[in-house]
Amino acid sequence: MGRGQRLGLFAGSGVGKSVLLGMMARYTKADVIVVGLIGERGREVKEFVEDILGAQDRSRAVVVAAPADAPPLLRMQGASYATAIAEHFRDKGKHVLLLMDSLTRYAQAQREIALAIGEPPATKGYPPSCFAKLPALVERSGNGLNGVGSITAFYTVLSEGDDQQDPIADASRAILDGHYVLSRALAEQGHYPAIDVEQSASRVMHNVVPQEHFELARRFRAVYSRYQKSKDLIQVGAYVSGSDPQVDDAIRLQPAMASFLQQTMFESASMEESLAQMAAVLNPQN
Ligand SMILES: Nc1ncnc2c1ncn2[C@@H]1O[C@H](COP(=O)(O)OP(=O)(O)O)[C@@H](O)[C@H]1O
Ligand SMILES: [Mg+2]
Repeated sequence: MGRGQRLGLFAGSGVGKSVLLGMMARYTKADVIVVGLIGERGREVKEFVEDILGAQDRSRAVVVAAPADAPPLLRMQGASYATAIAEHFRDKGKHVLLLMDSLTRYAQAQREIALAIGEPPATKGYPPSCFAKLPALVERSGNGLNGVGSITAFYTVLSEGDDQQDPIADASRAILDGHYVLSRALAEQGHYPAIDVEQSASRVMHNVVPQEHFELARRFRAVYSRYQKSKDLIQVGAYVSGSDPQVDDAIRLQPAMASFLQQTMFESASMEESLAQMAAVLNPQN
């Protein structure tokens, strides 16, 4: 992801969204971190501030919370207010990391209000105004004018499994510059962060990384995906080693790839380290 990019974090509940956002808040190099906790459970607020954000780094963080029991108007305002704080720091030339949890709850608050004032529901009970509000909020983040200051933003979006029908998930995917999909299957295996590499995509990667990095990531995805495609056969023992050299490669590299993709809650990794590790995983001999 690039500075000023807006990404969606798509996942069901309890798959590790908050923990992942917390890790970003703790280990980012951003000047200011603005967290908007919108429509989530009230006890998550205390948890996020005390346990996940931690004590030492709170000096550069601003948390705006409008939990689920707050009126819908307050929840909408909360998201807008968090964005306004981020804009304020960006306009002062700061690099801001904006973490919004969650965009779905924001849309649901707008749905409550719109239905109450008599707007007719359209898609899955969401009135048309919900879909107009989403880009209006998301478009406020991004790079500042003339390259001064930036808001790099993560918006969490609730989506259960491969439910592509959810209109908010659909609409968000269209307006964001990329998305990470967290997979429940990975989380159940204890693989954290449970990022589904195959389903996740960045729309600006080719603009922000050098050619070698891009190529390395492409190769990683190709090998990873080859293993996933043959996984069922391999696990029931139906794959005969030697029948496809590329699959043999993927099986050999699989343990290293899986461990490269995991990170514990209190582990930080720099860009340089990660790139070196990725290269080492793909070229184990050198
Ligand atoms: N990186 C991680 N390492 C270990 N456990 C994790 C990690 N991320 C999430 N978990 C586990 O998953 C649980 C749910 O995570 P949470 O971020 O609260 O989910 P969500 O916000 O998606 O509802 C956590 O309480 C923790 O036990
Ligand atoms: Mg959460």
